[in-house]
Amino acid sequence: MEIFLTGATGLVGGEVLVKLSKKSEVNKIFCLIRAASVEDGRNRLQHIFALHNDEFDETKIIPVIGDLFDDGLTTQLKQSPLLNNVTTIIHSAANTSFAKVKDDLVEKANIGGLTKILLWAKQLNSLNTFMYVGTATICGKDVKHRLVTEDESPNNNATHLVKYTYTKLRGEQLLKEHLPEDKILVVRPSIIMGDSRGIEPRSPVILWALATMNKLRLVPANPYASLDMVPVDFVADVMTQLLFVKRNYRVYHISAGNDACTSALQLAKVFDHHFDDLLPHQFVGKEMLNPLKLWAKGKLPSNHELFEHQDYLDYIEESFEDVTNLRILFAGLDPYIEFAELGQRFDNSRIIEDLGITPSLPGHVYIHKCLKYIERINLLEGAIDP
Ligand SMILES: NC(=O)c1ccc[n+]([C@@H]2O[C@H](COP(=O)([O-])OP(=O)(O)OC[C@H]3O[C@@H](n4cnc5c(N)ncnc54)[C@H](OP(=O)(O)O)[C@@H]3O)[C@@H](O)[C@H]2O)c1
Repeated sequence: MEIFLTGATGLVGGEVLVKLSKKSEVNKIFCLIRAASVEDGRNRLQHIFALHNDEFDETKIIPVIGDLFDDGLTTQLKQSPLLNNVTTIIHSAANTSFAKVKDDLVEKANIGGLTKILLWAKQLNSLNTFMYVGTATICGKDVKHRLVTEDESPNNNATHLVKYTYTKLRGEQLLKEHLPEDKILVVRPSIIMGDSRGIEPRSPVILWALATMNKLRLVPANPYASLDMVPVDFVADVMTQLLFVKRNYRVYHISAGNDACTSALQLAKVFDHHFDDLLPHQFVGKEMLNPLKLWAKGKLPSNHELFEHQDYLDYIEESFEDVTNLRILFAGLDPYIEFAELGQRFDNSRIIEDLGITPSLPGHVYIHKCLKYIERINLLEGAIDP
């Protein structure tokens, strides 16, 4: 098997790269990577393996220097004789930002970039499988508090909280426009949070929303809404296994499903237990997010009910040297709170049926293994570039 992988330096791609590199059936993994030179690209790849002391075989892992933003990318890939025998493409690269200011970049990377890869892939005679890493959240924001199945998406009528999920939906449609059905494999992870092995996650910033909740303690969210989160090691296991089994479907959720979902309350209990010197979490509902923003600006009327939680407000003021930074924090938190509010659970019966895999652990069961990494996250940086 010869694989072409995008997004190898990311949370998911890095884990998948290391796993696939250990498979004897895999002869080569060409990694599309942004770098100034081949040497620089190789160094970036080496770094991925060094994180957990995995063996880096430079005869098997080969950098292909390129950028999804480059207009010449399709031609570059078509003209590269190295790639003539690629059998499997895994497209994991994306811009995953929820921030409105990044909308243009998100569209350029996730729609424009994918199109460039597809224009190369569609004329690649050796290609058997194009695995597209989508997202379960393409179902949109109108689906609330229930189990969602794969066949409900892509749905053109879905409305989206952020541009990102729209671009991922469009991505699945582009796949169908360019490739025959039998070459398409779509995986849709739910929310990827941390690593259940207790090792350093490849991208700790992915835990930013939890780290922020843990630090604030006064949480403007619904404590009971289902949260479908999975650890990155589970996601990479499923993706890898799917490449080697007889598949009965073209699209798979990689999710916690009905039985292994968690909730903000269940996660908060774990945090309260481990950080017991802080005030216990207090949930005040999503409607308190705007009052919190106003309070951070010093503009909240003094008779507002938020002041019933004066002890928490004092604590927040003490913990954040500059309260104006809180505005940035709350702005970053906004879309996460909206997503969490939806209470979506994503059916995982397809992966269980086809892989016989043990379902993922619920978030509140494994999250304690990530706590030391949560503490290291720079909340402000994460809010600006989550
Ligand atoms: N994280 C989640 O919770 C989650 C949930 C569901 C689905 N997904 C999907 O899973 C996939 C991987 O996500 P992730 O969390 O691993 O993302 P990530 O950690 O942000 O990694 C993104 C990767 O894409 C690469 N990339 C971005 N723009 C690029 C460009 N212009 N040219 C070339 N490479 C580019 C990045 O390369 P650089 O290192 O050079 O920036 C990086 O390797 C995405 O498709 C995402 O939609 C993620």
